[in-house]
Amino acid sequence: MCGIIGCVGREDETLDVLVHGLSKLEYRGYDSAGVALSGERVDVCKKSGKIEDLRAALESRTLGGAAGIGHTRWSTHGPPTDENAHPHLDCSGDVAVVHNGIIENYQELRDELATAGHTFKSDTDTEVVPHLVEDALADGLDNEAAVRRAIARLEGSYAVAVVVSGDDTIYAARNDSPLVLGIDDDAYYLASDVPAFRDFTDRVIYLADGEFATLSADGWRVSDVDGNEVDKDVDTVDWDPEETGKSGYDHFMLKEIHEQPRAIRQCLRGRVDELSGEVDISDLGDLSPTGVQFVACGTSYHAALYGAQLLRDAGIPAQTFLASEYATAPPPIGDALVVGVTQSGETADTLSALREARKRGARTMAVTNTVGSTAARECDHALYIRAGPEIGVAASKTFASQLAALNLFSLGTTRIDGAREIIGALRDLPSNIQAILDDSNAESVAETYVDSGAYFFIGRGHQYPVALEGALKMKEITYKHAEGFAAGELKHGPLALVTEDTPVFAVVTGDGEMARKTIGNVKEVEARDAPVVAVTDGQSDVERYADEVLEVPETHPQAAAVLANVQLQLVSYYVADKLGRSIDKPRNLAKSVTVE
Ligand code: F6R
Repeated sequence: MCGIIGCVGREDETLDVLVHGLSKLEYRGYDSAGVALSGERVDVCKKSGKIEDLRAALESRTLGGAAGIGHTRWSTHGPPTDENAHPHLDCSGDVAVVHNGIIENYQELRDELATAGHTFKSDTDTEVVPHLVEDALADGLDNEAAVRRAIARLEGSYAVAVVVSGDDTIYAARNDSPLVLGIDDDAYYLASDVPAFRDFTDRVIYLADGEFATLSADGWRVSDVDGNEVDKDVDTVDWDPEETGKSGYDHFMLKEIHEQPRAIRQCLRGRVDELSGEVDISDLGDLSPTGVQFVACGTSYHAALYGAQLLRDAGIPAQTFLASEYATAPPPIGDALVVGVTQSGETADTLSALREARKRGARTMAVTNTVGSTAARECDHALYIRAGPEIGVAASKTFASQLAALNLFSLGTTRIDGAREIIGALRDLPSNIQAILDDSNAESVAETYVDSGAYFFIGRGHQYPVALEGALKMKEITYKHAEGFAAGELKHGPLALVTEDTPVFAVVTGDGEMARKTIGNVKEVEARDAPVVAVTDGQSDVERYADEVLEVPETHPQAAAVLANVQLQLVSYYVADKLGRSIDKPRNLAKSVTVE
């Protein structure tokens, strides 16, 4: 949700580096984009629309300066216009600021600054920052002290980067919004996320809340609110720059769907003992949960629903809460563990629920894809899903990896009947997913139903979260109406929506009680003339009632959920593609939602 970048030390390449970095951050927001370079004066170019629109605007401009900052926006305060695009300037045009987050006291600050004679050009909360810096400079403070004084006035969440004319330094600070520095031999970067500068360096420093960074061609420095130097570790990222490219696929989402076999292998590597067939996640510390509350949003919430089922299967009381509703959840009991499932590790609703859980005395664990993320740093434990960077705004491979990681969590912390069988099924996941990717008829199913009025998804047990996820993916990338239901719920109301124009995707795996009951629900929709698409491993006779079949290899029901989801991802992808949708950047959405 908004991406910021900064670069110093690249001399006349600064602008290219910024625009390249913004293109890598565009998944965080694509309402507008802009850059500012500071030399003798501050030059700004900003434009509503995508990075391409900024590139076009830059063709007729010459921007000079050694230190640069840039921004790609997901609108919170004010519509996506040129005026509301970042960077924002003070009255003199000497101070430029980019910001990710929300300044909660901006109205109060804006009123105060307006009374003091400052004029505002945008509707944004961010614009107060350059004016606060301007005020401090007018009071005779040097640039760093002026930026520090401005930051100290802010309440809310921010990752902020500031440049001032005549100064080739970037000043930056964070609170509750991600900010990472990139360290090269003679150039320095900052960004909301590592892909922004990963093509140039693999050495990174994750800033913590309350830290302040200065970057200039001479080096970097991180200090605390009082200006005392902070000793920071320089970490090395372990993924290649190519992982953030499309590698020949039309869309990042399709590439990421195809990366699922590798993502699962990475998730399992070193955690499943090849000889004993046991799961070892002891590096996470002593988890031994007596009860678990999961908190998460969106796709991660669906993964959390699945994770809670796994624990309940193992006899551990487990509940799932939408992170944004956690305030109304009952307090965690005894030594309960509160688990935040969050791909980005930066989702404001999830972070806030985890903080609430800590206040209530619970231990916390993040299940996340992002090393160094706020969730990973703030929680007592972090279970990394290791999916690699996911650029498509709609989550795909990270959902599969979350399911795999939650299996590791339940297997590694509880005694489960049939654990060996589950571990075997997890190990088979990469090849089974590959078999689906090689042979899927999802594109022809998409072709058949691309013009349908709405899509419904049903599943039971472990397949219920998959039905919810199938519907979310369809909504997000096709902009068409889709709903997921527990199969048994359909007859309690939603069945009224079912017509010959509303295909129902039924996830039916195995041949047990769950499958039998779901087939009963399939017959109910069939009797109302709705087309049925069965996602099945062929163990039951659901095919008899289906108009189309999407096959998945036969496996344990827990692993079948991952496989069925791959077929549903592909259907949504191809429907969206046939409709010409903006698959990697669906309208109104952003990858990392850092506001509540
Ligand atoms: C859907 C999607 C979102 C995220 C949600 C939580 O495709 O990507 O629903 O799952 O915003 O994000 P994280 O997992 O980063 O907390």
